[in-house]
Amino acid sequence: AAALTGCTSAPAAGPVPSASGPMPTLPPATPRPGQRIVEQVLTAKPVTLDLGGPTVPTWAYGDTAPGPLVRATAGDFLRIRLDNQLPADTTIHWHGIRLHNKADGVPGMTQDPVPAGGSFTYEFTAPDPGTYFFHPHVGVQLDRGLYAPLIVDDPNEPGAYDAEWVVVLDDWVDGTGRTPDDVLAKLIADGGPAPSGGMGGMGGMGGMDHGGHGGGNAPQPWGDAGDVTYPYFLINGRVPTAPDTFEAKPGQRVRIRLINAASDTIFTVALGGHRLTVTHSDGFPVEPREVDALYLGMGERYDALVTLDDGVFPLVARPFGKTEGGQGLALVRTGSGQAPGPDVSPAELAGRILLATDLRPHESGRLPSRSPDATAHMSLEGSMSPYRWGINGAPFGQNQPLTVREGQRLRLNVMNMTMMTHPLHLHGHTFALPSGLRKDTVLLAPMQSMALDLDADNVGDWMVHCHNIYHAEAGMMIGLLYR
Ligand code: C2O
Ligand code: CU
Repeated sequence: AAALTGCTSAPAAGPVPSASGPMPTLPPATPRPGQRIVEQVLTAKPVTLDLGGPTVPTWAYGDTAPGPLVRATAGDFLRIRLDNQLPADTTIHWHGIRLHNKADGVPGMTQDPVPAGGSFTYEFTAPDPGTYFFHPHVGVQLDRGLYAPLIVDDPNEPGAYDAEWVVVLDDWVDGTGRTPDDVLAKLIADGGPAPSGGMGGMGGMGGMDHGGHGGGNAPQPWGDAGDVTYPYFLINGRVPTAPDTFEAKPGQRVRIRLINAASDTIFTVALGGHRLTVTHSDGFPVEPREVDALYLGMGERYDALVTLDDGVFPLVARPFGKTEGGQGLALVRTGSGQAPGPDVSPAELAGRILLATDLRPHESGRLPSRSPDATAHMSLEGSMSPYRWGINGAPFGQNQPLTVREGQRLRLNVMNMTMMTHPLHLHGHTFALPSGLRKDTVLLAPMQSMALDLDADNVGDWMVHCHNIYHAEAGMMIGLLYR
């Protein structure tokens, strides 16, 4: 079974392995002899979805949002055909997977966009177990409902639980006649004219050295929490008046895989009457940590274990800093009892709320410490008015890509120079927080700085960006290129 992990046999033309990285080999781009192959077809198309009352015309993978689960075991080769039946170009990005660059799904960088009526086959090895998802990397299409979970099982993990639930969070634009493109156009129009040159005077601060490998300086997200007002928040595609319901028996132990697929909403998540033991962050094992609730930024995933009590319990996803549109709700039913209503407010939401910076990596998930060979600065800049976001002095397309050499340990000194919280996401790699915790998406509170270390072990052209899809589309992205 060890051969399934993809770590044990080097591909013919692999890179120079990094000195101490836990997974030194480049994930293969073609199947090795004997490698298990997972094949699936995904159809992106216009649909009318029933959210549990409201019906909405939108775009999805197949007939549902979330779309169909893609499931593999670490080391498997995935061959997934995207049939594009949308009236627009699209791609699929495999969020968090340390895959071969050509399969990363970034139009203009790793592939041509897949035209309306066209198809494209993504082929890659999924080297690391974990909870992932996928979505388009074109415009603000993610916010249409084009997302689905991707789970990579660990062949070496026994799975000490009775059941597993996949819980996908979303903020839902459609249903009021607006599309995400309308929303973005309005944000830009309402933001007013852009001043000429730079990022509203903030760009000049990008070069400031806040050195050191210190931790974050803000205990929790704050500031303006989102740009968009949503009519609904969904858990597994359902509004809270008709929630998804998980059935189990009292005393059973459940692994909950939480995915925030929202475009503009950080959630606080809690299960009423229970504490959650967080076991994985963005797929990687952590020292188990018991919490009342967790913050989940857009693009972040957490796995948690919970032992269930007897009754009916609300699993709540409360939008951080938003007062309209209610909240996301699912139900956990292990016995009889009255189902809580859509506005239920479990006490846990006011308890101890976990941030990634509170976690310690499990030994098997830690990036071995090593002094960096190179550093790069990333200054997150911009504002709501004008609605213009950028990194290092300019929006994407005008900013200078970051560069790295294969085999380097690169330290990204990231500074959030704005008054909003941004989930920063890196393609094709993981970065380590100062604790050594490996992640691919991390929340940065207003004016927070953080040093993120990554091993340049996956040659290609990659993106680093804010996972607020509206910020990303308005410029808060930068390239990371191997040179
Ligand atoms: Cu899920 Cu480039 O993002
Ligand atoms: Cu952002």
